[in-house]
Amino acid sequence: MNQMLSNVRIPATTGQFNLRNYEETYQSFAWKDVEKEFTWHRTGKVNAAYEAIDRHCELGRAEKIALHYYDSRREESYSFLDLKRLSNRFANILTDLGIVKGDRVFIFMPRSPELYASFLGIVKVGAIIGPLFEAFMEGAVRDRLADSEAVAIVTTPDLAKRIPTKELSHLKHVIVFGDESQLEDNQLHFQSLMDHASEEFEPVWVDREDGMLLHYTSGSTGKPKGVLHVHNAMIQHYQTAKWVLDLQENDVYWCTADPGWVTGTSYGIFGPWLHGVTNVIRGGRFTPDDWYSTLEKYNVTVWYSAPTAFRMLMGAGDEIVKKYNLSSLRHVLSVGEPLNPEVVLWGMKVFEHRIHDTWWMTETGAQLICNYPSMDIKPGSMGKPIPGVVAAIIDDEGNILPPNRMGNLAIKVDWPSMMRKIWKNPAKYDEYFRLDGWYTSGDSAFMDEEGYFWFQGRVDDVINTSGERVGPFEVESKLVEHPAVAEAGVIGKPDPLRGEIIKAFISLREGYQVSDELLNDIKQFVKKGLSAHAAPREIEVKDKLPKTRSGKIMRRVLKAWELGLPTGDLSTMED
Ligand code: PRX
Repeated sequence: MNQMLSNVRIPATTGQFNLRNYEETYQSFAWKDVEKEFTWHRTGKVNAAYEAIDRHCELGRAEKIALHYYDSRREESYSFLDLKRLSNRFANILTDLGIVKGDRVFIFMPRSPELYASFLGIVKVGAIIGPLFEAFMEGAVRDRLADSEAVAIVTTPDLAKRIPTKELSHLKHVIVFGDESQLEDNQLHFQSLMDHASEEFEPVWVDREDGMLLHYTSGSTGKPKGVLHVHNAMIQHYQTAKWVLDLQENDVYWCTADPGWVTGTSYGIFGPWLHGVTNVIRGGRFTPDDWYSTLEKYNVTVWYSAPTAFRMLMGAGDEIVKKYNLSSLRHVLSVGEPLNPEVVLWGMKVFEHRIHDTWWMTETGAQLICNYPSMDIKPGSMGKPIPGVVAAIIDDEGNILPPNRMGNLAIKVDWPSMMRKIWKNPAKYDEYFRLDGWYTSGDSAFMDEEGYFWFQGRVDDVINTSGERVGPFEVESKLVEHPAVAEAGVIGKPDPLRGEIIKAFISLREGYQVSDELLNDIKQFVKKGLSAHAAPREIEVKDKLPKTRSGKIMRRVLKAWELGLPTGDLSTMED
């Protein structure tokens, strides 16, 4: 952290914000009061897709724009009624295919209106939706579909090629959105099915604790784990969208995250739509001009993005900002990695808005520690816990540490959007709760005297590159599959733009010589096997890697080498 900036304060803004008095609300708030907003209050049953879309048609918002979609080829808008009908059609398709409550149905396609209609349709039939980021390659797709025993997937002709259907015995239906002539045998054509499906559908009413969403995320060991969220999570999506995103009836909201990541579902789908707010989805990849022109084109009022994006825009300079009219913008937020104080100050200068940092994780399902409109911002701090959540810094025995002491960032169990399961891996789930009564995040942080939390790093080896979580083990496993690689150790190397980049240390097998060509080939190998964001940007070849006597690569030693820091205790290292 830049010490020079640690004493800067940016005063609270006032006006139309929802959480006026943090301290008072914190004391008096109870989650059960939020439940009254939803249908289950009357019936005891629920469906999050009904609450997000159909309900608004009964509340006079049927013709209101729910979705503005825009990419280089398409520009379309959909009302809440349009989305209700489209998702009903898709729900009927799934029902006709025999898909029932609890089945896992995946989506593997670039952002498009069809992605959102399918997503909502899957939730409507009570199935569990597994969204996959379009950059995943065959190995990553296989692992996730196999682990979850997915029965159906919605995809495109190109991406379908990365689905190894023959190896996935549970996968019965591949529904392809695209040109019918590009379909292969046994694939179903999305548009033809949609054309013939009825737009009437009664949502499958489920219990609050029924599974809804499965997001795979990385840890420091083993393959990605399936984090299961239930319909109940919507309580917290709704309430944080109110307090933190500050969403109100006339807002036009843009969350830049893809639904393959949790931000793109909790706050790209549920947060805005539970409030009946107009949602902007920008497809494709975008240049700085595209970012600003999207804000201008739709008169975006609330914008939720990530530090990597803000740093990229900062790098593009201040002049470009002046080309656009961003006067509609009133609230800006960030998530996913540490938000540099410099970026907050830059935001003040060019947008004349505070960038509100928010902290949470795939596992937590929704925001937990945040900067609110009604609170002073200390640039570099993640803010304070939302009402209804108790956060603390604890030591490895579970004792609460006093202010300014660094330790494990932990959350008192539980909160409405907490994950309910790690798919087929109860032991992994229990690890998070090993300290009685606490969820341990794996992040280290401290809390200052005023109750603001400051992120310090990861306790484990998980890498955060451009806000995307990468497990070193998965990358190492892929690296050693390459014929030239004998051993591999992977770390996050600090990077001014991406936060961290993936750096691999490898040793080569007998008979291989280092060359640029070989290293490039190894990078491409990981990219093709896993995904672009998991491929190392740097590879360093060593004769031997530091290992424990039991043969485990010592990533902390690699990191110390990289950073030029002392290597610490080496007593467990082999000779
Ligand atoms: O290390 C923290 C970092 O991202 C991790 C969670 O990653 P993921 O599950 O992919 O979810 C990201 C979006 C919810 C955390 O353990 N992280 C997230 N937000 C912040 C952060 N680090 C610093 N500051 C943040 N605001």
